[in-house]
Amino acid sequence: MKVRKAVIPAAGLGTRMLPATKTVPKEMLPLVDKPVIQYIIEEAVASGIEDILVVTNRAKSAMDDYFDYYPELEDRLLSSGKEDLAGVVRGVADMANIFYVRQKATQGLGHAIGRARRFVGDEPFAVLLGDDIMMSEKPVLRQLIEVSEKYKSSVVGVQQVSDEAITSYSSVRMTNVEGRVYEVSDVNEKPTQEEKFSNFAILGRYVLSPRIFDILDHTAPGHNGEIQLTDGLAELARTGRMMAVDFEGRRYDTGNLKGFLEATIDFALKDPQTGPWLGGFIKDKAKLL
Ligand code: UTP
Repeated sequence: MKVRKAVIPAAGLGTRMLPATKTVPKEMLPLVDKPVIQYIIEEAVASGIEDILVVTNRAKSAMDDYFDYYPELEDRLLSSGKEDLAGVVRGVADMANIFYVRQKATQGLGHAIGRARRFVGDEPFAVLLGDDIMMSEKPVLRQLIEVSEKYKSSVVGVQQVSDEAITSYSSVRMTNVEGRVYEVSDVNEKPTQEEKFSNFAILGRYVLSPRIFDILDHTAPGHNGEIQLTDGLAELARTGRMMAVDFEGRRYDTGNLKGFLEATIDFALKDPQTGPWLGGFIKDKAKLL
């Protein structure tokens, strides 16, 4: 079945990016000249997604404002001859059909995904974490959707991480099927070195069977007292087919300062407007270090 819908959970408190995220949602922090969430929506659209649900909370209305029309601003830009910029501003609002639902209490990623049940209905759907962005030739979500359609299964995007890093992620037990595609038999959240299944970690992109909603309904709070998506994924993998793709591309966690700065530098270097200047600036700085 075609994957047409995506869910972006963006209701986390963003405590690793305080104090900036006290009033600015971390998904709205600018990466070069666009907010983080715009990159994620662009990836979803480039992957063939038509409808997108953003899971927000009471402190995040800047996101729905951003994807709305702003006639006063557009009129001002048009009347001052800035048609290009007016087109950019309007284009943001026309990128996709974007829907919103509030997670009324911050009870974890699994709980946030559960809020999407009515939107998703009975079809496979994509999940893109609101603070994980990708730099890749082929959109990472597209890579997952192709595997999902071929194997008629749920799919998680994975990459190998260091021994130290795996303890902060979900570790996957899996066996190779072909090329970069694996079959998943189990998953665990933030494992110790003894508990980990492998160094393959799930990194922010999923295609899920709607069975996940029934599973999340009876998933007990896990790590941190929150309903963990990983616990739901483990049951989904044990009771049905789940594949993993060792995706091509680089992932950045913009929800922490180091990942945010790395993404800012890499995306600014790649941008033709800022890249040549920034490259020279960094070389000059490096001489002083
Ligand atoms: P994170 O753990 O990265 O986000 O959750 P956080 O909770 O905002 O981070 P810190 O630790 O406080 O800095 C992964 C994803 O799940 C969403 C987040 O918005 C992020 O996209 N999330 C998390 C929710 O939507 N609701 C929750 O209750 C928790």
